[in-house]
Amino acid sequence: MKTDVKILTAHLDDPAWHTLAGYERHGGYNALRKALKMTPDEIKAEVKAANLRGRGGAGFPAGIKWGFLPKETTKPIYLVINADEGEPGTFKDRLIMERNPHSLIEGCLIACWALRANTTYIYIRGELFSSIQRIERAIAEARAKGYIGKNVLGTGWTCEIHAHPGAGAYICGEETALIESLEGKAGQPRNKPPFPAIQGLFDCPTIVNNVETIAYVPWIIENGGQTFASFGTERNGGLKIYGLSGHVKRPGLWELPMGTTFSYLVNELGGGMRGAKPMKGLIPGGSSCPPLLPNELDTPMDFDAVKKVGTMLGTGCATVFEEGVCTVRLGARIAKFYEHESCGQCTPCREGTGWLHRNIEKLERGERLEGGIQLLDSICGRILGNTICALGDAAAMPIQGFLKKFGDEWQRHIDLGRCPL
Ligand SMILES: Cc1cc2nc3c(=O)[nH]c(=O)nc-3n(C[C@H](O)[C@H](O)[C@H](O)COP(=O)(O)O)c2cc1C
Repeated sequence: MKTDVKILTAHLDDPAWHTLAGYERHGGYNALRKALKMTPDEIKAEVKAANLRGRGGAGFPAGIKWGFLPKETTKPIYLVINADEGEPGTFKDRLIMERNPHSLIEGCLIACWALRANTTYIYIRGELFSSIQRIERAIAEARAKGYIGKNVLGTGWTCEIHAHPGAGAYICGEETALIESLEGKAGQPRNKPPFPAIQGLFDCPTIVNNVETIAYVPWIIENGGQTFASFGTERNGGLKIYGLSGHVKRPGLWELPMGTTFSYLVNELGGGMRGAKPMKGLIPGGSSCPPLLPNELDTPMDFDAVKKVGTMLGTGCATVFEEGVCTVRLGARIAKFYEHESCGQCTPCREGTGWLHRNIEKLERGERLEGGIQLLDSICGRILGNTICALGDAAAMPIQGFLKKFGDEWQRHIDLGRCPL
């Protein structure tokens, strides 16, 4: 369904929207009042009906994840918000935290009520100073007003929310590394199972959700899951904040119905290419996603449709590159990032990401590559699926994608002994 409705960006024109007074002026915290009169199961049913897919990258349905918590437990249940936003090309969660932080706080409170949790930790990327400040201020304001703390709105229910700045490690965005880091340990992913819903923070049942996922919950509770779902496509409910960067006229963020095409984002909203050079390709949702070619831009931006064309929607923040960009150089930069950010725990990732990066750089310099470009494909194959977490996959998948879509250009580096561009 086409809609002009905006949710998380509805009042960006109000410079005070990030304050409690500004948020309440636009109906803020009414959803919490409504939720506290609902049962946890009723809230979970609305979130399920909303077809709200996780916005952190994997697109797992939030309602189904919430259902994985044990039915009976004597342990505390935790909600953890993943605000680590470290995937290159991605900058959507910071918009929510800086301009509309109370939607996240209200979402955390409603989610805690639904999950029978009493504590949320919001793990925020260390470099996002303004996000940290705004979230800390929003928590303090909400606490002073009785939304957070003991006896929330006189219900007798206790709910605490804590902001926890990270230290700028991409791996701490992986949910179990994030949990380890919250516990004060090195951010190294855990083996799964057990999944966090069963054994997460402090070995207690834990739901980890992305900022954007939870920030949509208040609107869903106020307006109904089905209404939210109706804005999107069949299995991808609602709206989503999409990002655009790279060689376009107008980079930025837009909140759009799920299933809007890449072409609409790039050409209508982004104003098309910045200069005379045509588009060479587009990385759909952060650097871990294999690229798309210009003739694939009619793909709808939902998790299932993008998967069908061999890549991933990821975080929904696309990066466009123009003709003249060397994809080997681009691949080398991406590979360098993953080598740097590998936690070193699994051999295929620790060694493979470095091996991949070094060999792509060799190719870029036009040096002889023993085994040809097949060597790169074979390194990717040895990393993929052989590591505890998906960082290894995130390093291998884009390179395989570049080889598939731009293999001729990579081969020409070998044939000419230099970059052909
Ligand atoms: C290496 C790595 C980095 C990740 N970084 C983030 C991140 O910065 N933010 C995020 O929300 N999810 C990130 N994820 C995904 C999380 O592990 C997890 O799937 C997500 O927080 C779940 O929330 P959601 O279901 O609401 O999407 C990352 C995953 C991996 C493997």
